[in-house]
Amino acid sequence: PDDAAKPALIALIAAPRGFCAGVDRAIEIVERALQRYGAPVYVRHEIVHNKYVVENLRAKGAVFVEELDEVPADGHVVFSAHGVPKSVPAEAERRELTYLDATCPLVSKVHRQAERQIEKGRHIIFIGHEGHPEVIGTMGQVEPGEMTLVETVADVAALPFAKDVPLAYLSQTTLSVDDTAEIIAALEARYPEIAGPKAEDICYATSNRQAAVKRIAPASDLVLVIGAPNSSNSLRLVEVAERCGTEAKLIQRADEILPEWLDGVGTVGVTAGASAPERLVREVIERLGEWRAVEERTLVSAEEKMVFKLPRELADSE
Ligand code: F3S
Repeated sequence: PDDAAKPALIALIAAPRGFCAGVDRAIEIVERALQRYGAPVYVRHEIVHNKYVVENLRAKGAVFVEELDEVPADGHVVFSAHGVPKSVPAEAERRELTYLDATCPLVSKVHRQAERQIEKGRHIIFIGHEGHPEVIGTMGQVEPGEMTLVETVADVAALPFAKDVPLAYLSQTTLSVDDTAEIIAALEARYPEIAGPKAEDICYATSNRQAAVKRIAPASDLVLVIGAPNSSNSLRLVEVAERCGTEAKLIQRADEILPEWLDGVGTVGVTAGASAPERLVREVIERLGEWRAVEERTLVSAEEKMVFKLPRELADSE
């Protein structure tokens, strides 16, 4: 039907949304490595948690592996944006592989803080989600037994440490701002002497995207979050919308949207996780336009100007 015959739908688009500076940099590292060394370039783990991005790079000659033993002796390998345990670059050096580290600088900053706290003789309480590659990478900066993971306020209550044990806390970069504040409050209540980071470990992109969802969700009947099910920051965006009392759905691509989702919906909120390209947002708006006369409104809650430098090995080809 032509637009005049379609019922109206407001698409309330969150800003900022989508790619952060760390994801931009990680993708650029793989693309430049492909130009510089030629295909194949091996990438340990999904460079960022997005299938569309991974497929695009695969088409250009990137080969995704989970572990270094899948990389041949003369291979070039890139470590993903989430960061890696110390054992990974050590193993790459032992095997004399050429490697590039696409770890987000904001994750590397947490890695350095972990080292510093251990040097000061403190045990680290790490707030994060078990099994996420960033958590595995950060916990792998120190020796086993030097860092304890907590995921919830209940985990804090169950910690075995006495009050006089020197402690410090750090966190994953892509957590819920609100949940993390509660966990930190519980840690500080139980361990008043605990040391913490000067500035939050939750990154600017994660907190800006959550704040932007808080702006659009109350005005929306449904929120669509474009992101992958293994993307921590995208899952948090779904939670934030739901806590505003608005139904939210995580989708990877526009073709997952079912027309019945829009029944009774006058305003649909749209956002995208830090690893989801803007192309996928456009695809979603186009898909909605097949059923409804869409009026786009963007609600800007912050401006982002962050850009991260490329690793030295690649920077001179700029
Ligand atoms: Fe870095 Fe935050 Fe993006 S830690 S990769 S800027 S989501």
